[in-house]
Amino acid sequence: MKKGFYILLMMLTGSHLLFAQKFEGLAQTPPMGFNTWNTFQTNINEAMLKNMVDAYVSSGMRDAGYQYFVLDDGWMAMERDHDGNLVADPKKFPYGMKAFADYVHAKGLKFGIYNCAGTLTCAGYPGTRGYEYQDARLYASWGVDYLKYDWCYTDSINAREAYTTMSKAIKAAGRPMVFSLCEWGNHQPWLWAKNVGHLWRTTGDIFAGFDGKKSNGSWSALGVTTILDMQGKIRQYAGPSHWNDPDMLEVGNGMSYDEDKAHFSLWCMLAAPLMAGNDLRKMTAQTRGILTNKAVIAVDQDALGIEGFKYTELNGVDVWVKPLVNGDIAVCFLNRSATASQAINYDWKTHAINDTISGMHIDFGTVAYTFTDLWNKGRSGNTNAIFKTTLSAHEVVMLKLSKK
Ligand code: GLA
Repeated sequence: MKKGFYILLMMLTGSHLLFAQKFEGLAQTPPMGFNTWNTFQTNINEAMLKNMVDAYVSSGMRDAGYQYFVLDDGWMAMERDHDGNLVADPKKFPYGMKAFADYVHAKGLKFGIYNCAGTLTCAGYPGTRGYEYQDARLYASWGVDYLKYDWCYTDSINAREAYTTMSKAIKAAGRPMVFSLCEWGNHQPWLWAKNVGHLWRTTGDIFAGFDGKKSNGSWSALGVTTILDMQGKIRQYAGPSHWNDPDMLEVGNGMSYDEDKAHFSLWCMLAAPLMAGNDLRKMTAQTRGILTNKAVIAVDQDALGIEGFKYTELNGVDVWVKPLVNGDIAVCFLNRSATASQAINYDWKTHAINDTISGMHIDFGTVAYTFTDLWNKGRSGNTNAIFKTTLSAHEVVMLKLSKK
């Protein structure tokens, strides 16, 4: 009797939410969308962004599965109003943020916004520290569906507490929002953020280069394979509704076609959130072809939600493997060389796969698989034969294997 009473009380007061404060069911597969930062930084305004929203739809991005339109840093006025509310920059958003959110929603998309756990955002706009519940209520009133929450100007505050507070504030505001943690992996969010948010950055910022680092003075941005190589030991912490985020896409922002294709393929192998970061109004057909390749996207969005892993490296070629539903597998070969092409002669039968994390064990000596090439629809084959191909510098070949 007493026990029943307490259970009823917990349900009524919502204290059972202490253990699972985030909204569930919002990111069963990695979130897909567009974010303003990689191309525009803080140079955004409503007129330009409306064109971007239109291009999002007309280019086929929405139909390919992209859903969120996210404003990154720079949308705010420099000061809160006299009630302490954040204000959209009146020059950039003359009709206010609710009007822009309505425009995004009217196109069948979801709307995302950015702020920071510190006193200021990374670009120096008002941060949320001390205003968590008030800001969450404001976002809910605007119809925000996704919040990216950064980590600048945080002094010595505790990351887990700061992100938990914002997560609870979103829950209390009552509107379901995907919560994207952006503290660059500094405090190992994969160990504690599963119930706090839906995705967490694992590294510092990406730049549109295939490898190395780019110095920005006090910090360095990271190339695609630099980030790739940092993902190794944390794949067991990702899964439906809680994803490792190796940062937004740089496809269409200056790398070669092969590099863009490799970047996109590998992010899909990692079950990464797919946030396009290019100017959707000016996409080339090649860029659009990469971002909207549904067969490759399906690997990212696979319902098992298992992050892929680097199986081996052979003569400068990475071999990545990702278990998929129904016992299928994605395999991606990447030529790491920036200058030399590389021949592949891959004998499946000498490359059994034993993945303790997903429990996938395959001996191609006893079970044959057929495969299709996800970038080159004309190519198919089976694992009884040696797989032969040649990869140009920084090129990938990505295969989907199914049991015969
Ligand atoms: C940080 C984040 C970026 C971007 C900028 C905005 O660097 O990691 O993704 O949001 O701040 O100022």
